[in-house]
Amino acid sequence: MDLDGLRVAITGAARDTGRLLAEAFARRGAQIFLAARDPVAARRVADAISQRGLGRAEAFRCDLAAPDSVRGFAAAVADRTSHLDVLINNGATYIEGDNLADASDDTIESVMAASGLGTVLLTKHLLPLLRASSRPDVVNMISACGEVGHRRSGAHPAFYAAKHAHAGFAEILSHRLRPEGIRVISLFPPDFVQNGPRRADSDLTAQSVLDCVLFAVGQPRDCFIREFHFEQVRNPRS
Ligand SMILES: NC(=O)c1ccc[n+]([C@@H]2O[C@H](COP(=O)([O-])OP(=O)(O)OC[C@H]3O[C@@H](n4cnc5c(N)ncnc54)[C@H](OP(=O)(O)O)[C@@H]3O)[C@@H](O)[C@H]2O)c1
Repeated sequence: MDLDGLRVAITGAARDTGRLLAEAFARRGAQIFLAARDPVAARRVADAISQRGLGRAEAFRCDLAAPDSVRGFAAAVADRTSHLDVLINNGATYIEGDNLADASDDTIESVMAASGLGTVLLTKHLLPLLRASSRPDVVNMISACGEVGHRRSGAHPAFYAAKHAHAGFAEILSHRLRPEGIRVISLFPPDFVQNGPRRADSDLTAQSVLDCVLFAVGQPRDCFIREFHFEQVRNPRS
């Protein structure tokens, strides 16, 4: 899998899966535009990646719930590169709760804004750079909560709504960008753990999710993997 020299932008990359994705791409020689809400946290992770002597990483602030911040990140990336090979729409605000009333209006607004608006705006503003790539991919970290009929997560209804917005966006974008050779690859994992055994009777791990991303992005251009869906084995709520 040749990812050496790829230019990759990742949102929500200062911790957890976003960070693992940034590290995994960098380990294979990619140049990372690493974004997070907290620029200090982003810089800490980017510096750690660059110091390891792997691919380089540069830190940016990007709050997906704030359109000006999203546009600022896209403009900053455009200042540094004439093309972008991979955009990973990873950042999302998670909230729990069975009942709508379990979250304040402000919290619901930020959940919807991050996935439903920020992700759309960021993709829009980075599309010219992706079009300038010889191997452009948009990777969407969605969720089983974005699948029609999924009910097994304890996520708040606003999180379900936000992930359905992201899924709908990815679905039509995949179809419309296919003629241009831009692959839109979406993952719909159920609740997964950052660390854990990788056995058949265990929860899905972040490592397995990121292996799917690396596999899809590493495929030759005739192979357009549009979606990854996962069978959930543990924690049934229904
Ligand atoms: N973990 C799971 O069980 C699971 C299952 C299905 C899908 N997913 C999806 O997979 C992706 C990564 O999962 P994860 O486990 O790493 O999630 P996570 O632990 O909840 O981390 C979410 C990431 O998104 C960032 N984020 C939240 N709100 C943001 C905003 N407004 N603007 C920019 N970044 C924001 C967070 O940054 P801060 O540090 O600033 O909060 C954090 O880096 C997410 O899209 C998630 O919804 C996760």
